[in-house]
Amino acid sequence: MDKLRITGGRALHGEVNISGAKNAALPELCAALLTSEPVTLTNVPRLRDVATMRQLLDHMGVQTQTHGERGGMTLHAADPINPEAPYELVKTMRASVLVLGPLLARFGRARVSLPGGCAIGSRPVDQHIKGMQAMGAEILVEHGYMVAQLAHGKKRLQGARIATDMVTVTGTENFLMAATLAEGETLLENAAQEPEIADLAEMLIAMGAKIEGHGTSRIHIQGVERLHGCTHQVVADRIEAGTFLCAVAATGGEVLLRHGRADHLDAVIDKLREAGAHIEAGQDDGGDFMRVRSSGRLKAQGFRTTEYPGFPTDMQAQFMALNCISHGTAKVTETIFENRFMHVNEMVRLGAKIQTDGKVAVVEGIEKLSGATVMATDLRASASLVIAGLVAEGETIVDRIYHLDRGYDQMEEKLRGIGANIERFK
Ligand code: EPZ
Repeated sequence: MDKLRITGGRALHGEVNISGAKNAALPELCAALLTSEPVTLTNVPRLRDVATMRQLLDHMGVQTQTHGERGGMTLHAADPINPEAPYELVKTMRASVLVLGPLLARFGRARVSLPGGCAIGSRPVDQHIKGMQAMGAEILVEHGYMVAQLAHGKKRLQGARIATDMVTVTGTENFLMAATLAEGETLLENAAQEPEIADLAEMLIAMGAKIEGHGTSRIHIQGVERLHGCTHQVVADRIEAGTFLCAVAATGGEVLLRHGRADHLDAVIDKLREAGAHIEAGQDDGGDFMRVRSSGRLKAQGFRTTEYPGFPTDMQAQFMALNCISHGTAKVTETIFENRFMHVNEMVRLGAKIQTDGKVAVVEGIEKLSGATVMATDLRASASLVIAGLVAEGETIVDRIYHLDRGYDQMEEKLRGIGANIERFK
């Protein structure tokens, strides 16, 4: 199993390219199921989760092909398609549930394995089922599978008003995709507003869908008979960009994040500026960029994770790593997932002072962390341990980095490119 060896203490300088967003690419790959015409995505990140989704679509009979330097991928879901997502693939990646909406909308039936447990929380899919039922699907859960089909005599899903009990990102994406081919109008209330959802909607509109309100909590979709192919560029990954901002804020230095979108990271940038980091953003011939500059120990910042545009739960662990070596004490409240402090005990192994109590962690900043062997437990926890290793005295070994590879495109190469002493070994 691959590990990372990091020798800490170096400031970071230079330029990093921010890749396409994992959490936009995954639903956009599934959206190709909505048409029998070819769909081309560019800026697709090279991630294990993207490879898993491609495997799942291949399994259904979708022809997929990568091309070009710019992360190009063409997907062609020509008939026949086998509308089944088997447990073997779904168990490795919960986002596989995103095939449910497109399969039901285009083929009127689907057999999708329930995702099962996850390190960061129970993560049920009851809202996904509730929303599809509201659109006229009959869903049986048997032998670990959701077996879904249109109500007797129906040829298409029916437009409906869907209001979920909580804001759900992939739930909103599933309903959005399903509603594009439904009969009549669908209204999504309490919809998630993440930039990845707006990017998916832009892609669906390019395929001929009628959508309004994406990026807000109320989305209107007027169903159409059929969708056509398109070419769409996946939006930049705000969580990858946020991870690099926290890394440079912690190590010190100055780094330009090419393609990084500051307008998708307001809550995180506000906290970093309050901590004492300098962040500027703009556009030039090379497109969007952010420049981060930091020196010395910053001020610890308390925060509470919430849905977008609030502070993202996917940045909680990385910002906690920064707080570990900042001046003062910070209270971190995790409101989205019930078990997303798995990185805390590993950081304590590096000498950090953190107390947890349910949803709250209190971090007392210290002068220095000391290198040790630590274990990654989930995707964002692994990124936070890399940041901690970059500032720790001596050598840190991060084990189980297959978690990191799920969501970061060439993380150690990019870090080495800006001066980090980091290498992968078996
Ligand atoms: C998406 O997960 C992201 N994944 C997650 O990113 C992210 O942490 C999460 O949204 C929140 O921002 C992808 O986009 C592929 P939710 P998702 O449904 O959609 C509860 C990463 O690190 N809920 O918005 O699965 C749920 O348990 C990953 O890149 C139900 O109870 O999250 C959670 O407490 C990790 N029933 C809350 O809602 C449901 O049917 C929000 O979950 C659905 C959700």
